[in-house]
Amino acid sequence: MLVSMRQGLDEASKGGYGVGAFNVNNMEQIQSIMEAARETKSPVIVQASRGARSYSQDRFLYHLMVAATELYPEIPTVLHLDHGNSPATCKSAIEMGFTSVMMDGSLMEDGKTPSSFEHNVAVTREVVEMAHAKGVTVEGEIGCLGGIEDGHGAGGDGLEHLTDPDQAVEFVEKTGLDALAIAIGTSHGAYKFSKAPTGETLKMDTLIEIHRRLPNVHLVMHGSSSVPKDLQDIINQYGGKLKPTWGVPVEEIQLGIRNGVRKINVDTDNRLAITGAIRKVLFESPEKFDPRDYMKPARDAMKKVVAERMTEFGQAGHGKDYAPLPISEMIKGYANGSLDPRPSMAGAR
Ligand code: G3H
Ligand code: 13P
Ligand code: ZN
Repeated sequence: MLVSMRQGLDEASKGGYGVGAFNVNNMEQIQSIMEAARETKSPVIVQASRGARSYSQDRFLYHLMVAATELYPEIPTVLHLDHGNSPATCKSAIEMGFTSVMMDGSLMEDGKTPSSFEHNVAVTREVVEMAHAKGVTVEGEIGCLGGIEDGHGAGGDGLEHLTDPDQAVEFVEKTGLDALAIAIGTSHGAYKFSKAPTGETLKMDTLIEIHRRLPNVHLVMHGSSSVPKDLQDIINQYGGKLKPTWGVPVEEIQLGIRNGVRKINVDTDNRLAITGAIRKVLFESPEKFDPRDYMKPARDAMKKVVAERMTEFGQAGHGKDYAPLPISEMIKGYANGSLDPRPSMAGAR
C-alpha cells in the first residue's frame, strides 16, 4: 500500500530507525526492493530520478509501481521523486501519483550549478505549497553534494558546499518542508573518497550539530552507498575496470541515524551488485544469451544488498507497525498546521 513519506519518517523517528531510499529504473530493481522488504518485514521508499523517469517513459515506471503495491499489499511503500530540478518536475510527479517529491533547489535547474539561498527557498516553498495541498511530502536540500558522475552534484570533492547549520535552521523555517537533505562531504556515485573517510572528509560533526539545532526535523543522507570492496572485486574479477574507491561506512550511517537521519539514499551499491552479477554470468558462461540467465542473478544480488541495508538501518521488522493514513488526513494535517515543522528547540543554539 502506498504511504506518504512524511508518515513513514514520523514513524521511523518514533522507532529510532532509518529508512533506505533505493533508486529504481526498471522492473527487476523494483522486484528486488519489494522482495527484500517482504523478507525483512520493512517499510520501503522507492525513488525515481529524472533520468529514471525518462528512461522508463514515466508510465512504465508508474505502472510497475502500481503492480508492486498490488503484489505486496502488506508493505508500506513510499513512491518518491529523487532530485526534482524544478517545481514543474515536482508537479508532474505529483500528478502521476508519487507520494513524495524532492525539490533539490540547492542546484539550479541544470542539476550542476550551485544556486543562491534565495533561489533555493523560493522554489522549495513553491513546491511545499503545491505538494502539501495534495497531501504529498517534500524533501529539500541545503548545501550541495560533490561529484558529477551520475549527473547530480556540484562537482569537486564534496567538501566545497557543506551545509551551514545556521542556514539549515533558516531554510526549514522559511520553507516548511518535511525532510532536509544535508551535505556533509559525500558525493553521488562510486568515487566518493580516495581512502577510508575520516572526520576530515566525512563531516559527521556537522550532521550532529545540525541535529542539535533541528532536533525535530527528519534529516536525509544522500550519496550514502558504502561501495563495498567485495562488490568492487566481483566486477573487476570478471573483466571490469573500477579504480580503488571508498564509500560511506555503514557505522557512520548508523551514527547518523542516532542523530536524526531518517532517510538514507542508496543507488550505487545496487548498481555495483547488478553489474557484478551480470559480468560473472557472461564471463563464466559466454554461450548464454537469454537475458533471464543474467537478470535473475542480478536481481538476487540487488535484493541481498537491499535486505542487508534494511537490517543495518533498523527498518527491518517495522513494516507492520502502522496503517497508512488516508491522503485526506495528510491534507488536513498540513492545512491545520499539525504537520508543520517544529524547527527549533529552546536552548538548542
Ligand atoms: O542521485 C542520483 C541517483 O543515483 C540517480 O542517478 O540520475 O543516474 O538516475 P541517475
Ligand atoms: P549513491 O550514489 O551513494 O548511491 O547515492 C544515491 C543518492 O543519493 C540518490 O539521490
Ligand atoms: Zn542524491
